[in-house]
This record gives sequence, C-alpha cells and structure tokens, in this order.
Amino acid sequence: MTEIARSQTSEAHGIGAPLWLLAELTYRCPLQCAYCSNPLDFAAYRDELTTGEWIDIMRQARAMGAVQLGFSGGEPLVRRDLETLVGEARRLGFYTNLITSALGLDEARIMALREAGLDHIQISLQAGDADMAAAVAGSPKAHAKKLAMARAVKAAGYPMVLNVVLHRHNIDDLDAIIALCDSLGADAVELANCQMYGWAQLNREGLLPSREQLEVAEATTARWRERLAAKGRDMRLLFVVPDYYAERPKACMGGWGAIFMTVAPDGAVLPCHSARMLPMSFPNVRERRLREIWYDSEPFNRYRGDAWMRSPCRDCDERKRDFGGCRCQAYLLTGDPAATDPVCEYSPHHGLIEAAREAASTDPRRVEQLTPRSVHESQVFCRQ
Ligand code: SF4
Ligand code: FES
Repeated sequence: MTEIARSQTSEAHGIGAPLWLLAELTYRCPLQCAYCSNPLDFAAYRDELTTGEWIDIMRQARAMGAVQLGFSGGEPLVRRDLETLVGEARRLGFYTNLITSALGLDEARIMALREAGLDHIQISLQAGDADMAAAVAGSPKAHAKKLAMARAVKAAGYPMVLNVVLHRHNIDDLDAIIALCDSLGADAVELANCQMYGWAQLNREGLLPSREQLEVAEATTARWRERLAAKGRDMRLLFVVPDYYAERPKACMGGWGAIFMTVAPDGAVLPCHSARMLPMSFPNVRERRLREIWYDSEPFNRYRGDAWMRSPCRDCDERKRDFGGCRCQAYLLTGDPAATDPVCEYSPHHGLIEAAREAASTDPRRVEQLTPRSVHESQVFCRQ
C-alpha cells in the first residue's frame, strides 16, 4: 500500500491531526539542572537535524494541520539558525513559543526573534536567589542573566512568562520566588513541581518534596493570588502539583498520539518528550514522512484508544478522561509501559508511589549532592 493510501485509511479511522509540534532543536545546554527531562544518554545523539531538515518538518506538520510550535531543547538558543526557523514557522502560519533558559539571549537577539515573528517566550528560573539557582543549575552567573533577559523580553513588548521548577530544595522559598516574579513585572508564572523523568527520575528521592512542604506551597500560592487581586495586579499563577501527590493520574499529552508530536534533535519522532527511553523503536523523520509516522507507525498506534488497556483501566469509567495516565511513568516505575500509571490509587503498583514518598522523606542529600545533568561536549556536532 502506498504511504498516501495507508494514511487515508488511518485518517478514515478517526485519528485526529497533531495540533502541537514540539521541536527539540538540540540537547546541548549550558546548564546542568539535576531535574532536566532530557534523556540520560542525550550525548549519544550527536547528529542534529539541519536547518533545511527542520524547515521540511515544519512544512509537513503544518500541512497535516499542526498549529502550535514550541522550540525547546536543551537550550534552543544554542542553534544559530533559530531566527531562520522562527521566520519560516511564521510564514507557515504557526503560533510559535520559545522555551528557554535565556542563556544565549541578548537585546539584539530578542529583536531579531521578534522581527522573525516569534509569538511567545517562556524563561525558566531555578530559584528566588542566585545561590540556590547556582546550586541547581551549576552556573553562578545564570540567575542574574535570566533576570536581565526577563526584563528585556518584557521591554520588547512580549508578555513576561516565567517557569519555575519546584522541588524540595527551593519550594520552601516560594514566597520569595513569587515576590521576585512580581518585582520583575511577570504576567504569568508557572510554578511547576518537578515531574520525574530523565535526570529528575535519577534524582527522584532527592527532589521530591514532602506533603507538608507541598501544602504550605499551595497555601502560599493562594495567599499571593489574593494579594495580587487586592492590588489589581494581573499576574497569573499556575501551580502544578507533582504527579506523586496528585489525586488522579494525568491525561498525559492529552492521550498517546492524540494531539502532540515531538521531534527530537536527531529526527526521532515521539509521542512525548520522554518516550525515547521506552523499550520500543521510534521512527525517524529522516527515513519516513511525518504523516506516515503519525497515522500509520506502530509506536504511535500502540497506545491509542483503549483496546490496549488491561485491568483496572480496561473496566474503569475514567479511562476516556485520563487514558490510563502516563506511559513513560508506568514504564519507569513498573518496567511495563502498558501498565496502569502507578499514580492511580487503583493501580496494583500504587504502593511504589507511596514508597517513593517515604524514601524521599529520609533522603539526606543537599542540593549540591544531586547528580547534575552531564555537561555536553556542546559545540562539536551540529551541522546547522
Ligand atoms: Fe485512570 Fe486506569 Fe486509574 Fe481508571 S484505573 S482512574 S483509567 S489510570
Ligand atoms: Fe511520555 Fe507521559 S511523559 S507518555
């Protein structure tokens, strides 16, 4: 059967188009966050897609119906062709978002990105103060640079959108973190408790906060929402609870192969940014067309719908809402990517979540003792 004929068959079976394309331009990054979601073996993927290959991918994705395009990494600013890619994305009609540490940014580059048509920038902060930020990310200068670039992004007319990854070593400083974001003039702040993938999974017991810490942080966020409202300040605070304390499993990626597609730096096409550590082989856009990968490849079809589910998901009314939770989390915790996400209280493996919380409560590591993401031999392998 031809590619087009097969795709038409799959599309006819009710698989929607990918709405979101996450372009992981590179795994290179100047920082070494101990919670990085990049794969542990990222250094093995040296052959980055070229500018021309990325442009072809964006054209294919847009032709399939994708509308949102996130540029991430690693640190996407490492790519000197970022402005070219943003410009092409704009011409194709994507809404574009840059997800960045701000290292590699300056006023001139912000203006160049703006002229290229970039719609949105999200800058990550590691902490409310330079010492903790340096301990988490391995760079003593990064914090000041981030603050300066957050102000510059706002001065250039973008909304200031900040993302702070929370964990047991910085969550007690949440009051100061939000105060810092307020003083910077942020428009929106994502307070995202660390999720346990990649390097974060490796450091899990040293990162997971206690339930008490989490409750205090939620109360702090609620207090700040009231305070901001009282002074008429429009700064949205989004608090993301860690899966390990969530009441229900998350509907990860809106369902496997439902709306979200990631292209990794070497061209592997994944249903989520963590999937490449699963025991399955993912297709590469250097060998197959995106349309064929999305509609017809075995990995993208494996966990679509609910026919693959086992008990208890198979008989559960929630399965259309949460799709059995996260496949990557199921694999990381049970060794079986088709298992019910252990976050679910009905999972026979839910005890693993409780045990992880317990282990975290006695983990003695200070933030400096966590395993940092390895330094990349960063400048050597890009063909851009
Ligand atoms: Fe969701 Fe499965 Fe748990 Fe039901 S049993 S709530 S479908 S994860
Ligand atoms: Fe991969 Fe949830 S992170 S399916």
